[in-house]
Amino acid sequence: MTMLSIIQTAYLLAALLFILALAGLSRHESAKMGNLAGMVGMTIAGAATVAYALDTSQRGMLLTTVLLFVPLLVGSAIGLWRALRVEMTGMPELIAMLHSFVGLAAVLVGFGSYLDAGTNDVAHLVEVGLGVLIGAYTFTGSVVAFGKLSGRMASKPLMLPQRNLLNLAMLLLALACCAWFAVSPTIWALVLVAALGFALGFHMVASIGGGDMPVVVSMLNSYSGWAAAAAGFMLGNDLLIITGALVGSSGAILSYIMCKAMNRSFISVILGGFGEGAGAGGGEARDYGEHREAQADEVARLLGEAKSVVITPGYGMAVAQAQYPVAELTRTLRTRGVKVRFGIHPVAGRLPGHMNVLLAEAKVPYDIVLEMDEINDDFDDTDVVLVIGANDTVNPAALDEPGSPIAGMPVLEVWKAGTVVVFKRSMNPGYAGVQNPLFFKENTVMLFGDAKQRVQDIIASL
Ligand code: TAP
Repeated sequence: MTMLSIIQTAYLLAALLFILALAGLSRHESAKMGNLAGMVGMTIAGAATVAYALDTSQRGMLLTTVLLFVPLLVGSAIGLWRALRVEMTGMPELIAMLHSFVGLAAVLVGFGSYLDAGTNDVAHLVEVGLGVLIGAYTFTGSVVAFGKLSGRMASKPLMLPQRNLLNLAMLLLALACCAWFAVSPTIWALVLVAALGFALGFHMVASIGGGDMPVVVSMLNSYSGWAAAAAGFMLGNDLLIITGALVGSSGAILSYIMCKAMNRSFISVILGGFGEGAGAGGGEARDYGEHREAQADEVARLLGEAKSVVITPGYGMAVAQAQYPVAELTRTLRTRGVKVRFGIHPVAGRLPGHMNVLLAEAKVPYDIVLEMDEINDDFDDTDVVLVIGANDTVNPAALDEPGSPIAGMPVLEVWKAGTVVVFKRSMNPGYAGVQNPLFFKENTVMLFGDAKQRVQDIIASL
């Protein structure tokens, strides 16, 4: 066997492991196996790539080894340091930042490949132009997403006049520059492609409002895959093409699922046309009246008399790390014969499946954790709903107020239950920045304070 055939076999094996990883990650029960398959695949892919670079090196073994291993070690050390320190609530912004690196890498590979090869092959030049465009778009789009998710940038959409026309003009101009670059490969054409890609990515993601960020995150995940595939074409690396296409298409499927869950149009997201229409500018402030407050012992009494309870967790449960006491409360109520179930909104928290991961971590049984569509018809027959740090995902304005930025998004219809207890620290709005009329309904009581502490107080009272 030659070195090349060993490397190609390793690439094939890694590609199969990546497909297994995606298949495994699609179900709770097999997610760990999926992660493992991905890690083994990536180790094989990394080792084969290093072996290939050493085998085909024209720069001398020492220089190649230094060029390969110094960045590899520095990158791994930074990656390990960040991964060990990151909180679960910081994952979305970390992912957005990682997507931005893929985009930037594609831009650098594009420029490197143009400067290194000095080729006139039109097909390769088209690959370089498109690779730089997708990479540049992914880079700035992900940086803006990072800013919005980490609270460094306001989550309100940037509403420039004629923004769709502006996007279209930038895209057409960038494609024209790609064509110019393909027929007459000057560095200036490529610089223009990159500049327009950077501007387009920034503007498209900046135009999207906070409530619609879940779709943006999965869409950028998809774009980062296509950027990696483009880098694979530029480098002539089959594994990178396969891996990029897998990430790109699975991200596109996830975006489609997110769009359906949020009742948004897939096409308008791809075109960055979110936040259009009546709700785009943010709903006007309304007076919903007075809210009522309760104390933990009153809620404990309420739960003591209840026959059926539904818990709807949101981002606040992740912030408070309240999943463990919530799981304990669930066990306590179940041993007393209360029917306890969870209702999970598809975009609760800041990551797809965020709440499911936290509840699984706290050992809440999977069979009492239901999706929004499975639980929404049952609220009429529910005695008490505990809204633990959720806000936008239980906001009736999404259904009742056509002018609201979250108008049209399906929500958990908790207000149909006998009593709703909302756990939060203040009357502040949720991530989308809109007030929640649920808090002022007659059958709602607010239980203020840190969700973890309050749930522990209830357990103590019970
Ligand atoms: P949010 O609307 O984000 O509201 C979370 C609530 O938790 C806040 O109102 C906050 O109120 C409360 N909270 C925070 N820390 C708390 C603590 N320690 N104890 C008690 N309460 C606490 O939550 P949601 O209903 O889960 O909605 C998710 C939002 O994020 C949606 O708008 C969604 O579109 C967006 N988003 C989702 C994703 C994905 S993929 N899931 C990604 C990006 C964005 P106080 O400050 O008053 O305590």
